[in-house]
Amino acid sequence: MAEHVKRDLVSIEDLSTAEILELFHHADEFKANLHAWSDLCRGAIMATLFFEPSTRTRLSFESAMLRLGGGVISAAESGSTSRVKGESLADTVRVVGGSYADILVVRHPEDGAARVAARYATVPVINGGDGAHEHPTQTLCDLYTLWKEKGRLQGLEVVLCGDLRYSRTIHSFCYALARFGANIVTMPYPGFELPDYVLHRLRRDFGVQAATASVEDLPGLAGSSNAAAYLTSSKPHQLALFTKLGNVEVSRIDAIYMTRAQRERHEGQDTSDYPRVTPSTLSAASTKDARIMHPLPRVDEISYDLDDDPRSIYFRQAELGVPMRMALMAYLMGKIQLRAKQPDLLSVMPGSVMAGSVGAAGLRCRNERCITNNEGVRYLKRDFRVCDQESPPTLSCGFCTREIEARFVGNGTSRIVYRYSAAEVRRIKPANRVYFESEAQADAAGFAWQKS
Ligand code: CP
Repeated sequence: MAEHVKRDLVSIEDLSTAEILELFHHADEFKANLHAWSDLCRGAIMATLFFEPSTRTRLSFESAMLRLGGGVISAAESGSTSRVKGESLADTVRVVGGSYADILVVRHPEDGAARVAARYATVPVINGGDGAHEHPTQTLCDLYTLWKEKGRLQGLEVVLCGDLRYSRTIHSFCYALARFGANIVTMPYPGFELPDYVLHRLRRDFGVQAATASVEDLPGLAGSSNAAAYLTSSKPHQLALFTKLGNVEVSRIDAIYMTRAQRERHEGQDTSDYPRVTPSTLSAASTKDARIMHPLPRVDEISYDLDDDPRSIYFRQAELGVPMRMALMAYLMGKIQLRAKQPDLLSVMPGSVMAGSVGAAGLRCRNERCITNNEGVRYLKRDFRVCDQESPPTLSCGFCTREIEARFVGNGTSRIVYRYSAAEVRRIKPANRVYFESEAQADAAGFAWQKS
């Protein structure tokens, strides 16, 4: 039998589309009788390391492992761990992954923390939410629920509403919806639009392009959120289905995915007229068959009057989290095998150059919430991946995936730096290129400046 290779789930991109669909079928099997699987992971131990509050993610993972016959050890809050004494996440996972536990689920307030955990732990690491970056297992639950409700994901019209900037759930969900060929209408609360790096990635990796439109056709969504970005695709299957919604061509709304304002990640921003889904939202012809979704916790974004409406599926998303996470853990621990191929990173990221740790002598991630600018300052080496070599080169942080433009490229041997557009740059071997955002960065790294 082939040796089981460690797999982590840091981003939803760590699973191929075929793997996700096959996991849905396993989740169906687990769900059919939750009590029939207590031998599958007997003897295994899962550790939940949660440095941020959680109800659903931690408890559903713990329930899933107990239902699989394994055991659970848990650090349920930051204050109960040696983090308060200054221990790094890297040291924590090195200790807990191994003789303490066979699989780790980590939630952490800093963007990119899950990638750090995955790099340092010798056992599979699952991202239970890292800052505003990603929450891939919530996305698995969301996709699974929507797939069961609608029988497919391709071609669905999904409205994403509320705080799209800081909601890690939304970021993972966007990438997955784009990959499955769903159409996405973003309906942000003003000031909480989808971040540029997410939009760029949707465009670059999935051929999905942003446009804007009115959403006045959605009644009951009070507040001042009346602008929408509509994401269309160059792929023909996504263009064929559109009819009219406001100023946007869509056939119907299949799901409205509501999010709360992520107050823990933005201080003092007024959200007093935040949009709210009410019964009148579902009275429109366009929303007749829509499903109302929410990752929960709900604060005040969905009227309690909707809870008994069969189109409200937010509690079902949470319920299905247990069989979905049972399937995921059984897979990552090698207890079930899938026929599906693993993701081919080069096909997921067309045009990207997998440079690994590129010459990032002067680069610093621009995301102040990135772990490299917080606890990782003490021990993490900067790590960027070149996602676009041209006009100007774009690199993404290897931890939080935030992008930066490198307008200056140096030769690591001659220590001369050029503007990115200089002909000399094309003569530098990719592995020998050192990237800078500014002349000052190049100066500080000891590079001589050559104008061209
Ligand atoms: N959806 C979600 O992540 O919920 P918790 O914060 O309660 O885990």
